[in-house]
Amino acid sequence: MNILHTSFECYPVAKVGGLADVVGALPKYQNNLNLNTSIIMPFYDNQFVKNSKQITIYKSTIQLGEISYPYTIQELKSPDLGFTAYLVYSNGLLDRPNVYNYEDDTERCIGFQLAVLDWITTLDKAPDIIHCHDHHTGLIPFLMTYTTPYSRLRNIPTVLTIHNAQYQGQLSYDKLHYLPDFDKEKIGLLDWDNCINPLASGIKCAWRVTTVSPNYMVELQKKANGLERLLQHENNKCIGILNGIDTKTWDPETDPMVIKNYGLSNVALGKLENKKWICKHFNLDSNKPLFSFIGRLVGEKGADILPDIIEQSFNDTTDINILILGSGNPETEERLKSLQEKFSGMYNVFIGYDEKLSHIIYAGTDYLIMPSRVEPCGLNQMYALRYGTIPIVRRTGGLKDTVIDIGDNGFGICHNNTSVWDVCHSIQRGIKLYTNQEKYKELQKNNMKIDHSWDRSVSKYLTIYESLIQKHDQ
Ligand code: ADP
Ligand code: GLC
Repeated sequence: MNILHTSFECYPVAKVGGLADVVGALPKYQNNLNLNTSIIMPFYDNQFVKNSKQITIYKSTIQLGEISYPYTIQELKSPDLGFTAYLVYSNGLLDRPNVYNYEDDTERCIGFQLAVLDWITTLDKAPDIIHCHDHHTGLIPFLMTYTTPYSRLRNIPTVLTIHNAQYQGQLSYDKLHYLPDFDKEKIGLLDWDNCINPLASGIKCAWRVTTVSPNYMVELQKKANGLERLLQHENNKCIGILNGIDTKTWDPETDPMVIKNYGLSNVALGKLENKKWICKHFNLDSNKPLFSFIGRLVGEKGADILPDIIEQSFNDTTDINILILGSGNPETEERLKSLQEKFSGMYNVFIGYDEKLSHIIYAGTDYLIMPSRVEPCGLNQMYALRYGTIPIVRRTGGLKDTVIDIGDNGFGICHNNTSVWDVCHSIQRGIKLYTNQEKYKELQKNNMKIDHSWDRSVSKYLTIYESLIQKHDQ
């Protein structure tokens, strides 16, 4: 079975967040099941792409309204990937240093999707399944089914995975002419709330819709940034499948990015070495428990309340350290930076994106805080567990599916609200737990043994693919 994933991110080619981790790991695990899985994504102007070996396998042009964009399909083969990656190179449109946040993101998303389909129509053997990820590739099911140039692809089953329904990629109807000729009676399949909504269109037109945890699927029916009714209506073709993690990339025993590798037999010592490095680097005290946050500094992650959490925590006690790694909302960044001097020696922040530092923090921190308002799955808590760290999470989305409170015989600390009070209360619980080193160390080991590998979920996707292919053959 040939599967093609279409995505705007894939680790290590280009990463902004968890979408990249998923698209960089799931295909590997699918190939272990003897599927033939590859991915297609934009060619970015970044170090990984520039240093990779590629061959040009196809050249053509797409038409976006009045403008023609020549493009090539680059085949990237790297033994580290575990699957073939195809990159759509389109000079001036896609080859930018960053993945998102350009004024013409709409054009870039549509241009990418047109090039992907344009290329697939030329293949002798088209994929058996096209698996789209998030709104950036959400128009593909519609384009394949209802537009004239891609009608050959109409019978290929499509799957759409929603990684985050907050982002839907809406565009106004004055950009409708970017799409190739289609049956205008079907225009409603593009629409949600009087604009073209790629995520909504994907939900309507894909053969199956998945999201990244069972609980988020339930939540989406009530809270989906305006798509609740649609998701209720399409309930029968929707399913929540819990993400996994790539346990080879994320293995404290072999991770080349951490300061000291460790396994079950030397977890306490190994973590301490990493913690000492962090404390030296960020002027913190390794004798006190370390609470860290890693992530995008946006409202969904509860990042806006971090400054108040820091103020309140140090009001309660000075016997802890807090470290933040992230970037995002400029106001939050400023507030976090402004606290550096006030709480010097016990608090620090690194504003930016740093993959290596994130690995060291998962390894060296004692607790990882995730006060998310919205968390479709969340990978950080699973990385934390794998590295013997105790997650402190709000019970929401995938966090609810993956972390059980120590009070319920579990292994993490959970609270109900994204509020300063709730998080500070959880920090207090963490401080208390830390004083009982015997229990704390038992938890560290226990957490490392929890299996969150993709092996647990990969077969669920296979079941979906098989059922769709059967449907197609009937
Ligand atoms: P989301 O995709 O919503 O950002 P996830 O928990 O699924 O959240 O995944 C976030 C991924 O991005 C993790 O791999 C996390 O370690 C990484 N990450 C987030 N912010 C940073 C940062 N500033 N530096 C390094 N890695 C980061
Ligand atoms: C999204 C979600 C996050 C999830 C990730 C991977 O970015 O915000 O919760 O873990 O996708 O599916």
